[in-house]
Amino acid sequence: MTLSDYSGFKLTSALTNSLSVSWQSPSNIALVKYWGKTGRQIPLNPSLSLTLSKALTETRATAYPRETEGSVEPDFWFEGKQNVAFGERIRSFLESITDIFPWLVQVSLKIETHNTFPHSAGIASSASAFSALALCLCSLDAELNGIILNEIEFRQKASYVARLGSGSACRSVFPGFTIWGSARALPGSSNFIAIPANEVHPVFKTLRDTILIVNEKEKPVTSSEGHNRMTGHPYAEARIKQAGKNIAELLDALKNGDKQTFIRIVENEAFTLHALMMTSDDGFMLMNPETVRIINRIQEIRKETGLDICFTLDAGPNVHLLYFEDQIEQVNKLIIEDLLKNNKQNLRIDDLYGNGPLKIG
Ligand code: PMV
Repeated sequence: MTLSDYSGFKLTSALTNSLSVSWQSPSNIALVKYWGKTGRQIPLNPSLSLTLSKALTETRATAYPRETEGSVEPDFWFEGKQNVAFGERIRSFLESITDIFPWLVQVSLKIETHNTFPHSAGIASSASAFSALALCLCSLDAELNGIILNEIEFRQKASYVARLGSGSACRSVFPGFTIWGSARALPGSSNFIAIPANEVHPVFKTLRDTILIVNEKEKPVTSSEGHNRMTGHPYAEARIKQAGKNIAELLDALKNGDKQTFIRIVENEAFTLHALMMTSDDGFMLMNPETVRIINRIQEIRKETGLDICFTLDAGPNVHLLYFEDQIEQVNKLIIEDLLKNNKQNLRIDDLYGNGPLKIG
């Protein structure tokens, strides 16, 4: 199967019984950031992320028989309640992929979803959400139309579909470190699907990510809006070049177990993402004073103690503290006594290298 073969089939006979599938999918944190897109969710630059383990979305999709064909109107439930705002985003996504799943107009679809983490906590809930939904749609497609794909083809198709919902979601379909976007350093990389980075030194499989929650509120500028501001950005060309170079160096570091290069590139990427936001037309800043204090402390403590710690940021104020399993005790002490000292509720999410999505029903 090639990527252009994803246009699908209508059902040849009406569905007689309901059909349910469920998937659990993790979020991911980008280490080389996707920022800016063109066309039908084509990234301006390649990105590389770590699929996490604990920040999960669980989704059940049920197709019911429907008497007459019509527009796609999913019955969408989030955390046990019908949710109109999210439901609308899901509806327009499903409508945009009826070329891939033409049967979407022939069934009634119920989607029930919940997260194991707060959706507005600045961790990429859209990545886990669209990855879980794409996997459900591909499973339903397989059962409804009898399409048999091998495991790799199935995941590739799910990655393709997830990308159309939220770019970063295409990376959550695979375990560990994944790359999305054509990168010269990696033959086989693609703008349409993510691929796993296979050569990874065992030390990087012990990577931990503790998200230090600085602000739980929804972001003032959505990532969609942020991507748009890369169009005509004065530094766009330089950014695309830099991302390619950073991916190449990071892949070498992952292969060789080179923690120092990893730390240098990961922090360079976090600063670059936020610098691009600040220097776009109508610039904006998502860091707040506590974000800056924590970042400064992480860099100072690394110099003072030699701990292999570094930070990255998503499109929000919360700080992802990255470290390795063998230093977990020292880092935990540091989090409690220093990094979260202004955070009375001690809000943190402890996550780690993850093995990818799981079919749960
Ligand atoms: O997938 P989106 O459209 O939510 O964009 C994600 C953008 C960043 O999280 C900032 C970077 C990334 O590569 O995940």
